[in-house]
Amino acid sequence: MTVRSRISGIGMYVPERVLTNADLERMVDTSDTWIQDRTGVRERRIAADDETASTMGIQAARQALEQAEVDPKDLDLVITATTSPDGMFPAVASRIQDGLGATGAGAFDVNAACVGFLSGLATATQFIATGAYERILVVGTELLSRIVDWSDRTTCVLFADGAGAVVVEAGGQGGPLSFVLHSDGSGAQTLYADGPCGVPNGLEPDGYYISMDGRHIFKFAVQAMDSATRESVEMAGLDLSDIDLMIPHQANLRIINATTKALGMPPERAMVNVDRYGNTSSASIPIALREAWEQGRLHEGDRIAFVTFGGGLVWGAMIFEWVPVGPLRPVAEPVHATASGN
Ligand code: UT7
Repeated sequence: MTVRSRISGIGMYVPERVLTNADLERMVDTSDTWIQDRTGVRERRIAADDETASTMGIQAARQALEQAEVDPKDLDLVITATTSPDGMFPAVASRIQDGLGATGAGAFDVNAACVGFLSGLATATQFIATGAYERILVVGTELLSRIVDWSDRTTCVLFADGAGAVVVEAGGQGGPLSFVLHSDGSGAQTLYADGPCGVPNGLEPDGYYISMDGRHIFKFAVQAMDSATRESVEMAGLDLSDIDLMIPHQANLRIINATTKALGMPPERAMVNVDRYGNTSSASIPIALREAWEQGRLHEGDRIAFVTFGGGLVWGAMIFEWVPVGPLRPVAEPVHATASGN
């Protein structure tokens, strides 16, 4: 008998600074029309100099903990998904654990590019299913603006900064019904960012920038999101028509629309906010989840499909039956009429 888990709090944080398509027109040879037509992005957020993946993650985590009404000291574990950590180590998760005062929690990072948050969430639900832990914070946080080559118009219009977080707790009658995680490392060269440990001592590269074969990734993304959704829906014993809301990785509006089309779903069944935040990699799904909650799109018993793909190449999906956020309300006692004689 495995323990069910539920998402009891959702938080997000995006930096204040907005970078519009008009701003990008002044930086590279591009246009607002091209960016909107090809990607759906209108604007994105860029971190301030004093921000890092951990400072943004802490902000998102605080909002999630507040909604869950969970004291950081009661957390058992902090899992952080990021591809843009403050440093090589310590883990961003340890920095977040310290910043929150989660003194009873273990901490580690997950790097699965844009599948990082889903991988972290799947990990958290497994710790809970076995009974090992009861309360886990999963954070997706990215400061991609520091690994974007701002002279490369094929990538700088897409990527941006932000953080999202969820509190995963034991209990409730919903939770994950299925998940799939896939990898094909042979496609690594189509989307990657190098780092200092891959470079022999003495060689000084210009920087460690995101490099991408956009057309290849586009085709891969639609095929991967389509197949992962079908696979996880089937594993859950459901039909595609049972999915109430899809929360896809926010990479490109055309990718999201092509995926819902391939799945025979109406486009409005997918949550979209890529227009305002661009691609925030492992932060995109929890940010979209928070906004779906704010828009009243999450209802008890709904089947939510988290679906994503990224550099690796990796892809995956999870079907999650929704339980309302906040503390679990005790089931109301049946009301008995007080005896008043007969
Ligand atoms: O988390 C996963 C991360 N990555 C992705 O999800 C990326 C997936 N791929 C995409 O989103 C799209 O492939 C892009 C948005 C990157 C590009 O859109 P596209 O429709 O595939 O365009 P394209 O690469 O086929 O390029 C079409 C034209 C080219 O010019 P020519 O060769 O036709 O003269 C590009 O040089 O558009 C040009 N171009 C641009 N023009 C204006 C490329 N980037 C830009 C730009 N502004 N920013």
